[in-house]
Amino acid sequence: MAENFQAPRGFHDIIGGELRKFRRVTSTVRELLRKYNYEEIITPVVEYAKVFERSIGEATDIVQKEMFVFSDRKGRRLALRPEGTAGVVRAYIQNKLYALRPYHKLFYEGPMFRYERPQAGRYRQFHQIGVEVFGVAEPHADAELLKLADEILKALNVQATMEINSLGCRVCRPAYREALVEYLHGVAGHLCDVCVDRKDRNPLRVLDCKVETCQEAVKEAPKMVDYLCDECREHYTKLKDYLKELGVNFRENHNLVRGLDYYTRTVFEAVSDELGVAVIAGGRYDYLVEEFGGPPTPALGFALGVERLMLLVEEPQRNYDLYFVIPFGEVHAYALKVADILRSKGKVVELSYRKGGLKKQLELANKLSADYAVIIGEDELKEGVVSLKDMRTGEQRKVKVEEI
Ligand code: HAM
Repeated sequence: MAENFQAPRGFHDIIGGELRKFRRVTSTVRELLRKYNYEEIITPVVEYAKVFERSIGEATDIVQKEMFVFSDRKGRRLALRPEGTAGVVRAYIQNKLYALRPYHKLFYEGPMFRYERPQAGRYRQFHQIGVEVFGVAEPHADAELLKLADEILKALNVQATMEINSLGCRVCRPAYREALVEYLHGVAGHLCDVCVDRKDRNPLRVLDCKVETCQEAVKEAPKMVDYLCDECREHYTKLKDYLKELGVNFRENHNLVRGLDYYTRTVFEAVSDELGVAVIAGGRYDYLVEEFGGPPTPALGFALGVERLMLLVEEPQRNYDLYFVIPFGEVHAYALKVADILRSKGKVVELSYRKGGLKKQLELANKLSADYAVIIGEDELKEGVVSLKDMRTGEQRKVKVEEI
């Protein structure tokens, strides 16, 4: 096929069994979100590029290398959303949701776009379900959020390790940053080219660089947890206590920093034991609403990668019987009627559009994994019955439609 008629690199169709896995993930998550009483929000796929640049951070990989940015006909810079949080924060402020209630729990589902190098479970268009909680500063909200993430993994039967860390706040982060930059200058000779550049612009990111020499070089680096102010320390300690109380297993990873700049205090990632990558990730962002021009509003949330989870879940089995109605001869009106009656009784029915003899029809029934063939010829029409064939046993008998 000519290249122009293929999906662009990193973009993919979701079909058949893959789509069933997709729906298994999303419906399981939605069911849990209902129990936690999250309210859905749909925001645009496109925002002004600024919305992402200001929130995710000018020095991050997402903004520097991965955004699909374009101009509209009036020359306004727009971007396909690389993540959901920024748009939800924008919507929260623009719609003055803060004026309605003291706090909000929102969720969204939809496609995100990042110009990344495609590989298994990594696409340029992928899907997230994300949750955002606005207006709660206390650590029990963090604990409940992590509990929800844990429940999602359990419900999908996905093995993952919950890694947590604290990134501090306006009060304690600057001193830490300074100490870290100083340290990084000392080991600059051992850092990869990217990290040599990062160490001043985005020093925290050096801590989770995957290059081995960098990992070695930061082993002795100062850790944020040792610099936390009293409030941040208390927040972090309480979170860990609550998680233990709730039976949520976690592992502290003091090098966990996340690839987006808006985080404060709690950050976490659920890392798949099988894939070694994060399937759910998030944290607090207590200043973002304010930085966008809203009232000071602490907030937190996470997003899960649907395609990543699809790699780890089983394809769901159909939990209903499929009836395949096969008309022979001039019996179409009767066949339509039969299909109609069966559907009105709650059955799932496919009316065969295939032409040809019984053998070909039954072949198609097998292809569709039909449980029953409902065969209708002129005899059946005359007698007001159908021939019902059980596709598993091969047994066939004449019955009245009403009796199925
Ligand atoms: P993130 O870590 O950039 O966080 O993405 C969250 C999840 O989206 C990842 O853990 C991964 O499962 C999935 N994901 C990311 N990039 C790709 C890709 N190229 N292909 C497939 N899946 C991908 C955020 O987006 C934050 N907005 C999360 C958040 C919400 N923090 C607070 N609230």
